[in-house]
Amino acid sequence: MGKLQDQALLKHSSYWQGNWQSAERSFNVTNPANGEIIGTVADATAADAEKAVAAADTALSDWAARPAAERAKFLMRWQQLMLQHQDDLGLLLTLEQGKPLAEAKGEIAYGASYLEWFAEEAKRVYGDTIPAKSNDQRIIVIKQPVGVVAAITPWNFPNAMIARKAAAALAAGCTFVVKPAQLTPLSALAMAELADRAGIPAGVFNVVVSTDAKAIGKVLTEDPRVAKFSFTGSTKIGKQLAKQCAGTVKRVSLELGGNAPFLVFADADLDAAVDGLMASKFRNAGQTCVCTNRVLVAENVLDEFTTKLQQAISKLKIGDGTYDEVDIGPLINTEACTKVDELISTAVTQGAQLKCGGKRQSDNSLFYLPTVLSKVTNQMDIAQQEIFGPVVALQSFSDETQAIQLANATEFGLAAYFYSRDIGRIWRVAEALQYGMVGINEGMVSNPTAPFGGVKQSGYGREGSKYGLDDYMDIKYLCLGGLDK
Ligand code: SIN
Repeated sequence: MGKLQDQALLKHSSYWQGNWQSAERSFNVTNPANGEIIGTVADATAADAEKAVAAADTALSDWAARPAAERAKFLMRWQQLMLQHQDDLGLLLTLEQGKPLAEAKGEIAYGASYLEWFAEEAKRVYGDTIPAKSNDQRIIVIKQPVGVVAAITPWNFPNAMIARKAAAALAAGCTFVVKPAQLTPLSALAMAELADRAGIPAGVFNVVVSTDAKAIGKVLTEDPRVAKFSFTGSTKIGKQLAKQCAGTVKRVSLELGGNAPFLVFADADLDAAVDGLMASKFRNAGQTCVCTNRVLVAENVLDEFTTKLQQAISKLKIGDGTYDEVDIGPLINTEACTKVDELISTAVTQGAQLKCGGKRQSDNSLFYLPTVLSKVTNQMDIAQQEIFGPVVALQSFSDETQAIQLANATEFGLAAYFYSRDIGRIWRVAEALQYGMVGINEGMVSNPTAPFGGVKQSGYGREGSKYGLDDYMDIKYLCLGGLDK
């Protein structure tokens, strides 16, 4: 781990109350590309999480009382530091998560863009005046920070998922405690180091790293000092955490699993559709919640589309993300590879055809070969579960009605994509898809100006955009009376 230009970005313990905190036990962070240990980190306990919450609670009144423009300056300083250290942060992210370096640096820029966006939005928290029923009253609406925010974030975006929650929370005037995934804590700790350098006051941004997700999760969801809880992760865990939040009636935002359909209509530009699918499917080796999970192609263009797709896939370079020109890094761990193996073999047993890939590069590695399966049906597990791997599962449809019906036949509703050049169809399909985000002739929908979030069992709440602050603010109505002479 000698390659960072700024070695001080490699931290080894949790951060709260503006200090790096030790713990009795520690755990190793490993590189999924080669199994090497890249860092050892102090393993925080539930009691530590309580201290972090206490720090956030103590810092709250001062932070909330600062003018929005002042909070914005802190966020902008943090954003600039993230960009200044983009190379180091990107390398750290690749080493602990596996995604190719260019993608990792892209994630740093993506995370930083939320800091910039919400620094700007902080200054635009407008209230309202409402015509009163009588002349001796005025009705005014103001918005106030909800209070202490706690978050649990996933390993697939170790920087950006923290940045987009923390940026909105801090901009709104909330303080923040995050538990990052235990597989990828180093990026979170590097962010804390830069928050510290940006001068963000003690207790405003806190990071608790731990292998005891259950115990830390219990504190963050049940402590009455936490007013709002935000989670990105699986639907199963999200449901459990939401239940835990019910006891103290916390505000909750959940960005959960997806099962994105990618529809290719006969009138689509097939080359553009292949490009869009490559971006949507193979980003982070297929390990994103918005990754395409099912590819539905009009039956009369299926063969042509499949040929073009296989040509594009044959050019993908798989390997250690720190090597030049790698497109696909390793999956995160052995369990992830086993899950992909099982989904593929079950699909084949059920009648799907393996056209390429379908296995790891070598027996013990975590590099999974880009895979294409044809003749998939919507009833198969591979079409109903999140694959989280580089597998294209191809289905066909006969007409628009069937395409929409198949696309919506899932309990999830995060992202969907479709390709068509027919303007009438574009409106019909966009409105009929039961998803929070729809890419139309576009395979990448994520950016800070847009509301990211799902419907159905993919969760609720929106991150980014002008709506993103709402999740972190309470509306207060003031009734000013006694104004008659
Ligand atoms: C996710 O996979 O949870 C987030 C992906 C994104 O922000 O684009």
